[in-house]
Amino acid sequence: MADWQRTHTCGELRDSNVEQPAVLNGWVNTYRNQGSLVFIDLRDRYGVTQVVFEPDNKELLEAAQELRSEFVVSVTGIVAKRLPGKENKDLATGAIEVKARSLSILNRCPTLPFEITEFSDQELANEDLRLQYRFLDLRRSSLQKVLLLRHRLCQVIRAYLDQHGFLEVETPLLGRSTPEGARDYLVPSRVHPGNWYALPQSPQLYKQLLMVAGFDKYFQIARCLRDEDLRADRQPEFTQLDLEMSFVEMDDVFHVIEGLAAAVFEQCLGVKIPLPLPRLKYVDAMLRFGNDKPDLRYGLEIVDVSELAGQTEFQVFRSILEAGGKVRGINVSGAADKFSRKGLDELGEVVKRYGAKGLAWIRVEAERFTSPIEKFLPGPVQQEMRRALNGKPGDLFVFVADQEEIVCQALGNLRIHLASQLKLYDPMALDYQIAWVFDFPSFIWNEEEKRWAANHHPFTAPMDEDLAKLESAPASVRAKAYDLVINGYECGGGSIRIHNPEVQSRIFAVLGMTPEQARQRFGFLLDALRMGAPPHGGIALGIDRWAMMLAQTANIRDVIAFPKNQRARDLMTGAPAPVEKKQLKELGL
Ligand code: AMO
Ligand code: AMP
Repeated sequence: MADWQRTHTCGELRDSNVEQPAVLNGWVNTYRNQGSLVFIDLRDRYGVTQVVFEPDNKELLEAAQELRSEFVVSVTGIVAKRLPGKENKDLATGAIEVKARSLSILNRCPTLPFEITEFSDQELANEDLRLQYRFLDLRRSSLQKVLLLRHRLCQVIRAYLDQHGFLEVETPLLGRSTPEGARDYLVPSRVHPGNWYALPQSPQLYKQLLMVAGFDKYFQIARCLRDEDLRADRQPEFTQLDLEMSFVEMDDVFHVIEGLAAAVFEQCLGVKIPLPLPRLKYVDAMLRFGNDKPDLRYGLEIVDVSELAGQTEFQVFRSILEAGGKVRGINVSGAADKFSRKGLDELGEVVKRYGAKGLAWIRVEAERFTSPIEKFLPGPVQQEMRRALNGKPGDLFVFVADQEEIVCQALGNLRIHLASQLKLYDPMALDYQIAWVFDFPSFIWNEEEKRWAANHHPFTAPMDEDLAKLESAPASVRAKAYDLVINGYECGGGSIRIHNPEVQSRIFAVLGMTPEQARQRFGFLLDALRMGAPPHGGIALGIDRWAMMLAQTANIRDVIAFPKNQRARDLMTGAPAPVEKKQLKELGL
């Protein structure tokens, strides 16, 4: 062991080590030069220890005066009790300090582009700058804690699935396109000019083929690549816990994942998740929350009042209902006096962002309503309205009338907006509302391409009772598909798959593929389904989003060591970047 190498980490020394010698290695977190004394806080992944350089050794003191932030040093010294009153209760090592006997500077550091401390979000240096110097930003203990949580998450997953008989199997990165609804990242083949690999949007087809091969229970912590528009909860490359099981129905997948979710929250955060998890049908989620990934930490449920609205004299409501639309509202309980006229106009602006034409509102009083539309509401309708929305004096009703899709969009997003504005939940509380959403439609109409598209992916099994309607009424076909939702985030999605080659061919046809196209793209799958495919199903959990939940951040970049920015760029390495002409030529490009 070299004489500069540590005997302890910077998070390790306690009262019980007092009077012992110790060697610490780490970064100078802070230094305070008081002339005759120099204090430094020495930092590593494990913590921070105070080191003091005293005037009895003049040469050493002078050497210490040279230290600056982020110098990498080795300090040898004796552990001592801090002076009474100088203890730091916030620090695990706060009872002691190390009195330095020798110092070696292992590496120096210039003044950095930003300071490495825990600021509030507003005070942090600009994110682009921090992404450019990600290796510095990652020195912050909050980011280190997040990556530690993410590590723990993966360990819990691996242990749980191993105990439950799942095998971890790797699948290729260079393969054929697996459609998950995004654009592919393509890789040109040098050996086969003019041919391309696609990076996997998910291991979907490979995991199904593993079931055909008889592996029975598979999982993989797999990287997925999708060239899609980025958002706060999306990255072009992200990680899934991908999982597949044979001879199962939906309940079996739910059972495994519920046990896993409980283990994760218990072992990572000490939070107990009551099981079984609630289940919500897609239509009910849309009706009650305007959203297929509802945040269930607060109420503000949407109520359909179309029938009552038809009994009013309000022309806007009546004409929209006549055009086949809906009128739905939310009781913002106790909020009648929380919104001025201006505040209500602002809520109107929120729903307009989602396509609504306006927001009607009613302040509920003991005897009557105060509202611009009060004069259009006959007394008995007011009574019914009060009952339908469970209104009490002091409540605020808000309504949107439009085509159903817009009503859901507008009120769903207004609900989220109101909950945050009225602080109906505490983003920092360990409050996790997890639910299944199921009974999704199999297909959605793609207006641009004028064809049906798979709502999940083309390998999702339709409900048995809807099979007969595949060709005649695709809109009404429901899928054996499910999503796992945590606090308003889609944290997982899966389905029972098609294991019958005829059904798979019919689905390809509904999606507008000719038999030749289907064979050309998915011949290997159709062959596998003909050659002894067991019934099977599974799910993929978004590991990054789970890590966001555990770490209580709304920024996916916080939970990824080296993320891309919103424009899919790695600001540290500069990727994507031009390459040499020679490389392109080799690839025939
Ligand atoms: P799906 O496309 O729903 O299903 O993906 C599963 C989960 O992965 C997460 N996720 C993402 N996370 C970060 N950035 C992204 N760009 C991103 N896209 C998806 C979400 C999502 O719920 N093969 C199927 C799974 C299956 O059927 O078994 C699939 O990939 O949390
Ligand atoms: P108006 O009669 O156009 O002044 O509208 C009266 C109230 O109804 C205003 O508060 C509007 O914001 C609201 N309103 C207008 N269109 C709609 C709509 N489609 N749904 C709900 N409220 C609406």
